[in-house]
This record gives sequence, structure tokens and C-alpha cells, in this order.
Amino acid sequence: MSPASVATPGHLAVAVLSLLAHRLLLCSADVDFIYNGFHNAANLSLEDAASVLPGGALQLTNDSKNIMGHAFFDSPVQMVQDAAAVVSFSTAFVFEIVTVGSGGGHGLAFVVAASKLLPGATAEQYLGLLGKDNLGNLSNHVFAVEFDTVKANGLLNETNDNHVGVDLNSLVSNVSEPAAYFAGDGGERTNVTLESAQEIQAWVEYDGSSKILNVTIAPVSVTTRPRRPLISRPIDLLPIFKQEMYVGFSSATGKLASSHYILAWSFRTGGAAQPIDLSRLPSVPKKPEPPPSASTVIKIVALSCAATVTAIIASTGVALWLRRRAALADTLEEWELDHPHRFPYRELHMATKGFKNSELLGAGGFGQVYRGVLRRSGDVVAVKRISSNARQGMREFVAEVASLGRMRHRNLAELRGWCKRGQDLLLVYEFMPNGSLDALLFGDCAAAGKSASPAATPPPLTWEQRVRILRGVASGLVYLHEEWEQVVVHRDVKASNVLLGGDMGARLGDFGLARLYEHGGDPATTRVVGTLGYMAPELTVTGKATTATDVFAYGALLLEVACGRRPIDPVTGVNLLRWVRDLGVRGEVVRAVDERLGGCYDKEEARLVLWLGLTCSQARPEARPSMRQVCQYLDGEEHVPEEAVLVFSDADSVDFGLFTSLTWSSCATMSVGSLHGGR
Ligand SMILES: *[C@@H]1O[C@H](CO)[C@@H](O)[C@H](O)[C@H]1NC(C)=O
Ligand SMILES: *[C@@H]1O[C@H](CO)[C@@H](O)[C@H](O)[C@H]1NC(C)=O
Repeated sequence: MSPASVATPGHLAVAVLSLLAHRLLLCSADVDFIYNGFHNAANLSLEDAASVLPGGALQLTNDSKNIMGHAFFDSPVQMVQDAAAVVSFSTAFVFEIVTVGSGGGHGLAFVVAASKLLPGATAEQYLGLLGKDNLGNLSNHVFAVEFDTVKANGLLNETNDNHVGVDLNSLVSNVSEPAAYFAGDGGERTNVTLESAQEIQAWVEYDGSSKILNVTIAPVSVTTRPRRPLISRPIDLLPIFKQEMYVGFSSATGKLASSHYILAWSFRTGGAAQPIDLSRLPSVPKKPEPPPSASTVIKIVALSCAATVTAIIASTGVALWLRRRAALADTLEEWELDHPHRFPYRELHMATKGFKNSELLGAGGFGQVYRGVLRRSGDVVAVKRISSNARQGMREFVAEVASLGRMRHRNLAELRGWCKRGQDLLLVYEFMPNGSLDALLFGDCAAAGKSASPAATPPPLTWEQRVRILRGVASGLVYLHEEWEQVVVHRDVKASNVLLGGDMGARLGDFGLARLYEHGGDPATTRVVGTLGYMAPELTVTGKATTATDVFAYGALLLEVACGRRPIDPVTGVNLLRWVRDLGVRGEVVRAVDERLGGCYDKEEARLVLWLGLTCSQARPEARPSMRQVCQYLDGEEHVPEEAVLVFSDADSVDFGLFTSLTWSSCATMSVGSLHGGR
């Protein structure tokens, strides 16, 4: 900003007085100037690589190799008076050495020389001051304070690659000190790294009378000037200096290169140089940071690895979340929108904790049942997951299920809704806290799921409870067969499909499910679906489920509940129907009642239930009563025609049932076509 101000009026006056005092007629003046930045580089001679950057920094060299740069104050400065004494002079300047790459060079120097041209000067370790040929030549008249960042090989009396030296006609330093400053009054030595891209201030002061040269440096960041100089030596500069000398800077690079900058400079003869305004220092172009050290590299690599890993984890998480969202999202076929009570898959997935095994209530022929809690209502539900390959039938079945969802009867498990997902069908039922009749009758873990463990087998159901359950199931079947807007055949009446509410009231579940397996497909390979021991004989022939086949299954249920035995004993293979019928033939049917009841039952009622069971289980469908009639029998409104049952239930039909059970003992379903072929 401020151009050189040569010989301010006050100083001129001093100089004039001095001249008068010495009776000298030669023009002589003290010099005093300051550059707080070089925005205005007036009165400066820049040679070679030296230039002033737009920012105001004086760049002696850039980081090109083997170059040098010179910057001198234009006008000569009188350094010797009367050919007898070197004047006192003082200079302060701020420099900055910025190195790109692993090592820089070579350094810069404050120079007082007889010529601004510095004849014979070369780059590299000669710092653009001198050359190999004139090194040490007394006719050089070069004085320099060097700030050297390269240690030359043995020749130049250099202490290290980061030193401050005093050069007299030579680069073989008269004095050389590692760059440092003495902090505070105590003077603790603190090293300074010259090529560290930090602003460093230097003071070079010479007292002409005492012939003491002081050199002081300190980083600009150190606020107070060190009181003790780094170098303080008696040096007679008279042999070096001519009367008029030029002051300035020189710098050079070699195989190693740095950018050398002077940011501010003040100089004065005959007194202390003006202090530099450190707040006005220009900044130098921001070079890339010096190459990081190995540990920094490791840190950076580690950090970037960590960042990368974090990013990968985060993006993977997001991707997984999106995928999960997408996976849980429903892809609806158009028709699905037509049917009410559809649940979003997400909701059921959440309700069952992702169909977790811990939520599994049971597994049966059609699929698994999970306990779930609907998030919106907080209702506890049972979610039945059914896998079906019946692609074609799914649509029709869903239509049926959706319509079944409108059914409301106290003895039917309430279907809350449904959800189709791929080949899976999810049915949402009200949750039955007391589990299935199967589990309560037999305490069978496999059938009951986790609701009954062997250690906690519930006490056997009382006779009254059993009859109430049977009445309830009958009532539910009447609703399905006759009271609903269309005839619904349950197709899978059995103990494990009878669920018990909190009041031990029966709820028939899974109605219509078997339809899923019957829809579509070739009639010849239509699969007969049902449960062994509950399947009417004609079902295996016609493959057609009717209300009569439901009645047959209900008959099996009557016997099962009254006797506490499975329709076909899984261990002995005894056919319950045949066994009870044989007892009936001998007039001892009541002996079939569950022994666990310990005789605590109404014998007439037991007789009614057993005979009704036999009546419903007749081989000929037309001989079986309707479910409404069953209810009337149970209510005592009609008498069961015991003799007729025995007359019409010929041994063949019973044998047929046995044959069926034995043949199918290993599979619950078989194709009607193959059966036709067999018969
Ligand atoms: C010193 O330099 C001068 C002028 O360049 C030259 O004439 C003289 O020979 C040199 N002396 C030595 C010893 O090299
Ligand atoms: C040089 O440093 C010494 C020691 O600190 C001091 O006494 C002397 O005054 C200094 N001379 C100049 C010219 O600054």
C-alpha cells in the first residue's frame, strides 16, 4: 500500500545536520522506507523470476526448478561514510516459504550488494547471490543474511537444512545458526521451520560503531519480538561494503523448489527500521498442504475408510430399508381392490413381528397361525398364513373369503380380513384365548401349538362344557348351511378347527378354506381335501363336498368329544365310529363315554350324543340328518331313530370307511382321478 518513502522531511533534516557536522559536500542521506505489502511496488527492481502478485506479495521464485529471483530497492543506499565507517542500518521483513512436494529449496537472503545484477550468480545453493566461480572473491562486495532450507554438501559451513547464516562475499557462511528464536526474557530457544508456509519476521540490525550484527527471527504468530537475537556477532562490514550499495532480496530454487515470498519490508539507515504493520500482510496463494506424513496418511486413510464404511453402511441401511419397504409393500392385482376387508401386508407383518416363531400359535394342514397385535386398534388377532399353489383359484377364493368376512355368528370365528401376497393368503381372525377344542380334549402340544404344554395339561372338559361346545358348533353349521345368503360348506369340521373363546363358547373356524384347494384345475385331478376320520365315504368317490359331508364330519366330532378319543386312534388305529357302532349294536353305547369324566355325565344326554354321532356318520349321505335336524335332536325336540341307524348302516359302509382310512393313512389328500382308477 505504502510506496517507499525515502527520506522523510524529518530524516532529511537529520541528514543535513549530519552532513554539515561532517563538513561533507557529497550528497548523502539516510534511507528509510517501508512496504506493508507490495501492492505498489514503486522503487523496486524485480529481476528474473521475481514478481509482485495481485494479492500484494512479492514472489521471488515460484516453485519452478533451477530459477532465481531478485528484488532490489531501486536507489542505492549509502552504507559507508567518509570511506571509513559503515553506517548503522536496520531492516525488518516478513517472508514465507511455501513448498509443494516433499522438500523445497533452496532459500532466500537479504542482500546488500554493490550491484543489483549480482554478476555470476547462479541458482541452487548459491541462492542467486553468487556463483561457483566468484565464490569468496573479495571483489564481490556482497553481504547477505541467508535463510537456507537445504544443507549443501560440506562446502558452505551450513549447520542444517533449516538455518540462518551470514554470508560475506561468499556462501560459505561466516556465521550459521539453526533457525530459531529466543522466547520471552528467559530466552528459551524455540526452533522455527523456515519452509513451513508460515509468516516469519526477520530483523537484521547492524551497529556501525560497535560493528555488531544482530539477526533475529520469529514467526509472526509470536506476538512479541524476541529480545535476544538468534545471531549477534561482531562483523566488520567495511571490507565488504562500497560507499553505495543496493539492498534487496535474492532467492533460488534447484532440483528442489519452493515459492519464496516477501510480504512486507522496512529498511532504514541511521536508526531502527519502522515496525511492520502485521495486520496488513498480504496472503500468498494457497498451495496444497505439504505432503502429509505417514501417520497423517494413515489417519486420513483411516478416516476416509471410516467415512466410506459409514457411508456404505448408511446407504446399505437406506437401501435395505427401501428394499424392506418395497418387500412389504403390496402389489395388488386389480380385482383385489374390489374386495373389502383387505389388510396391507405391512400391517400384518408388523402385527406378527415379522411372522416370528415366538408368535406361532400353531401349524396345521393349511398353514401356520400366528398371534398378532394390530397396531391401529391394538386388537389381538390370529393370523393364518396359507400357502397355496392354486393360482387360478385364488381370485375366486378371495372373493369368497371376502364375502365370508361379512358373516357374523356367535359360533363362527370372526374373519376380520384377508391379505393376498404372492401365493400366500393371510387370514385375520379374532384371537381365541382358550385355543382349540383339540388341544383341550387331548392336551396335544402338536395340535394345540404352544397354548398347552404337557406339564400344564388342562383338566378334561366337563360333560356340560362338551355338550355346549357341540351345540355351538351345530348352530354355526346351521348358519353356514341354511341361514347365510348362500350355502357355505365348511369342508373341514374337526376338533382342531373348533376354537374356544374366553367364555368357553365354541367358534368354528377355517370355514370354506378347503375350497381354495378345489378351485380350478382339471376335475379329474381335483384334490379331495379333508381330515382323515372326518371324511365322508362318498367324498372319496365324488370328490364333492356337500352339507352332508359336513354332517358326517360333525358326527365324527360328536363321537370324538363324547368319547375323548380321536376318530382314528393314532397309536392303535382303532376306528372310533366302528367301535361305538359295535357298542351300539350290543346296547352298550354309553360305555364309549370318556372315562376321564369319572361317570360325571348325564347318561341320557350321552346316549343321545353318541347315537346322534352314529346317525350323522352313516355311509349314505341321504340317510344323514341336516344340521338343523341335528340341532333339534340335541335340543330334545326329536328322538334319534336308533334302530334305523343300525338298519341302514350296513357293514360295508363301515368297512369302506376303514378301507379309506387305512389306504390314506399316510396322506390327507389324494386325487379323485387316481381313486377312480383304483376302484
Ligand atoms: C575475482 O573477480 C574478479 C572480477 O570478476 C576477477 O577479475 C578476479 O580474477 C577474481 N579473482 C579470483 C581469485 O577468482
Ligand atoms: C544486538 O543484540 C545485543 C544483544 O541483545 C544488544 O545488546 C544490541 O543492542 C543489539 N544491537 C542492535 C544494533 O540491535
